[in-house]
Parts: sequence; structure tokens; C-alpha cells
Amino acid sequence: MQIIRKLDELNEFLAPVWADDNDLLAYVPTMGALHSGHVSLIHKAKEVAQKIIVSIFVNPLQFGPNEDLDSYPRSIDEDIIKLWAAEIDYLYIPELTEVELESLTKINADREISKILCGKSRSGHFDGVCTIVNHFFKTIKPDFAVFGEKDFQQVKIIEQMILEQAFNITLIPAPIFREASGLAMSSRNSYLDDQEKTQAAFIYESILKEKQLLEDLLFPPQEEQILNSINTIKEKLSNAGFRVDYVEFHWSRIFVAAYLGNTRLIDNIEIVT
Ligand code: PAF
Repeated sequence: MQIIRKLDELNEFLAPVWADDNDLLAYVPTMGALHSGHVSLIHKAKEVAQKIIVSIFVNPLQFGPNEDLDSYPRSIDEDIIKLWAAEIDYLYIPELTEVELESLTKINADREISKILCGKSRSGHFDGVCTIVNHFFKTIKPDFAVFGEKDFQQVKIIEQMILEQAFNITLIPAPIFREASGLAMSSRNSYLDDQEKTQAAFIYESILKEKQLLEDLLFPPQEEQILNSINTIKEKLSNAGFRVDYVEFHWSRIFVAAYLGNTRLIDNIEIVT
């Protein structure tokens, strides 16, 4: 695994890959604090490409002023060990100065998709995501990019950005990777102690309990009952000590964002499979 910190090194290492039509390049963008969910993205990348590149960059542009940029988990040494074990080819860890945030081309996330769900409570978040991903797509020039479906709205927004910016990149969505308890894996789970982790698994459990009912209510759509079912999930979460940001139905999925203490957790489950 080559560890790359500078743009000119990136160009040097990737030039032969870009030049060889038999060497397809798959890219897994991350903000580090890697867990088994990230490793599952790497496995997905290996299904489609010969060369795998992972980036680690905690992107200040996607954090709001009162969000957790400063406390966001950083574990670069452990991350490097995990990536060695996952046998990737390149790890790109640019310094903050290397990326020059102020001079990046600003990309606005799709207006329709970014005004719902997390876009409502995290103003500017998806513009920050698109701006950095656009930058990395332009510098890394991958054939594929793998994004986890835990951030399903992000997947939709990046798909749209790929179309709008005419990137020749195929987005590969990867299913949510869960703890045995059902808790969706996330770097932010490191904010939770063991008891909170057990409690956090209730998000998945509460959606799963309504899944069958919701499936039955969809064809033909029975809007009032669907709303009741969504309200049931909200109520259960509130009663279990969560501060619910949203429970909503989009793209045939139920989406939940809820705070456990100061930790914002998100999850989603496909209702129509
Ligand atoms: O999903 C993430 O970890 C981030 O939003 C991403 C795609 C690495 C951009 O900073």
C-alpha cells in the first residue's frame, strides 16, 4: 500500500493506472475512524476494479458551526493498519494545506434532494460534501466510487452530481453494515459508551418492527396509516430517550435521524424489497 500525502505524488502513482485500460480504479472516500463498514466498502470496490484507492480527509466544509468537526474521531495509525490488512493499493491522506479549501470549485448539491432529511437540519452540509467529492473525483479520476447506503441521501446527491458534472464514474452503493445488535456502523458510534450502543440499536429495531406493516400499506398506498406507522416509530424512539430529528419515507425507504445525548445517529431501511 502506497501512502500518498501530496498531489504530485498522487499524479505520479496514478499515472500508470490511468494509462492502462486493464487497470480499473475504484475509489472509497472516507473521513477516517475506519470500522468494518468501511472495510465492506473496500470489498465491494474489489468486486469491480483491479486497483483500490481510499482517501482519509476530515472535510471541514461539511460540518456546521455547532457540529463536531473538532471532536470528530481521528485514529490515523489504526486506520493505516486496517487498510494494510484490507490490502488496498493507495491511501491518500492529504494535509489540510494540500487541499486548499478556499480555492476549491464550490458545488451546490441538487436543490430538490438536499432540502429534505439531513439537508433540512444540516444547512450547507451536502454542498460541502459535493465540493470535496468533486475535488477528489477530479484529482483521483477513478472509474468507480463506492459509497455506503447508511448515508443514502448522500448516495442520491452524489449520483446527481456525477450526472451534472459529467463525470465518467460509476457510483457503487454498498449496503449498510451493522453490529450484531443491528446498530448501523458509523464512526460517530465511538461517541457512545456500551450502554448507549445497546440503546442506539433500538433505532433499527423500531423501524424493523413497522417494516411489514408499512409494506402492506404501500400497495395501494394508504397515506393516513403510513403516517400513523411513522408516528409510532417517532413515539417509540422518544419514549426510549431519543430526541427525534426526523422519521420519513422516501425512495421506498424509512429514514431516521435521532439524537442520543449529543450524538446524532442516522439509519434507513428499505421497505419495498
Ligand atoms: O461519507 C463520508 O464519510 C463523507 O461525507 C465523504 C464522502 C468522505 C466526504 O467527505
